[in-house]
Amino acid sequence: MARITLRQLLDHAAEHAYAVPAFNINNMEQGLAIMQAAAAVDAPVIIQASRGARSYAGDIMLSYMIDALEEMYPDIPLCMHQDHGNDEATCASALAHGFTSVMMDGSLKADAKTAADYDYNVDITRRVVDLAHWIGASVEGELGVLGSLELGGGEQEDGHGVEGKVSHDQLLTDPGQAVDFVRATRVDALAIAMGTSHGAYKFSRKPDGAILAMRVVEEIHRRLPNTHLVMHGSSSVPQPLQDVFNAFGGEMPQTWGVPVEEIVHGIRCGVRKVNIDTDCRLAMTAVFRRVATQSRTEFDPRKFLKPAMDAMRDLCRERFEQFGGAGQASRIKVTPMSEMARRYRAGELDPRIDSPATIAA
Ligand code: G3H
Ligand code: 13P
Ligand code: ZN
Repeated sequence: MARITLRQLLDHAAEHAYAVPAFNINNMEQGLAIMQAAAAVDAPVIIQASRGARSYAGDIMLSYMIDALEEMYPDIPLCMHQDHGNDEATCASALAHGFTSVMMDGSLKADAKTAADYDYNVDITRRVVDLAHWIGASVEGELGVLGSLELGGGEQEDGHGVEGKVSHDQLLTDPGQAVDFVRATRVDALAIAMGTSHGAYKFSRKPDGAILAMRVVEEIHRRLPNTHLVMHGSSSVPQPLQDVFNAFGGEMPQTWGVPVEEIVHGIRCGVRKVNIDTDCRLAMTAVFRRVATQSRTEFDPRKFLKPAMDAMRDLCRERFEQFGGAGQASRIKVTPMSEMARRYRAGELDPRIDSPATIAA
């Protein structure tokens, strides 16, 4: 059995200076692609399911799928994580279905569209932390609203994200507030806003510091060197995938994602979890388009799904290697959730935050 909590995994990643990509899944093929890639390079994995994925596949199907992946790959530590939980009920029901970690995204209200205020975020995140830590599960919180600095707003591509215009300040996590937030909530990992957004259409040009504010990551890491940071919206939307998609009838306008070298820079500044969904979708659907165009008589879904799965596997493998996770799986001995619960109760996993005087120095 190798189901690991986010906290244990990210503590290991911090100790050995790497990050773990968190790939979203909705179906068996995506789960297999991730695990095949992980096994090929001996990397630990984070698999995450959004609320949309849970309603698409169903909680029972998803939880048996994860059981199956765990049984097929017993040597790969596997963290099962709720992506963008919107309230306590979503987080509690994920834990009841075998998730070892949840994100309580209190940057938005429960409708996942309205920006929440700071006190709302602290209150709801702290409640979820209290609940999860009793059973040894981990919690990721989010401070700052994800969205484009170019457009001054969130993304609605996936039906999740802030609606309407939001201020520049809301789109960039305040480093001082981040210290307060981690202290007040005791989250195990902190998602921060620095100009990334979900979906394919992140940037209208190769991003520079004006639209991808890596300085925010640097400053938060300076103040919170022991906190595991999370970058959402971190697909790179690789040009070759855009080209294949468009060569076979797709109509994706030219777009730019988060360059891998920026993520690698983030990893040097405390980023330990990197969320990737769009790249996996694009890798698979580019292949669907190619097969549908090149083999016009084909009607066996496996002839579409197998090469699509291979394309996603290759993408995942590349990210494991680029983020430094290759070779780490076999170095991890999974701690049971009951022991994690004991450590939380004993205060052994409380946030380690330096005093303001030490930070300023
Ligand atoms: O949160 C964003 C992820 O890309 C999940 O997207 O809600 O369409 O499953 P989704
Ligand atoms: P992308 O849309 O960039 O893949 O981001 C996914 C994500 O952040 C899921 O939480
Ligand atoms: Zn996200």
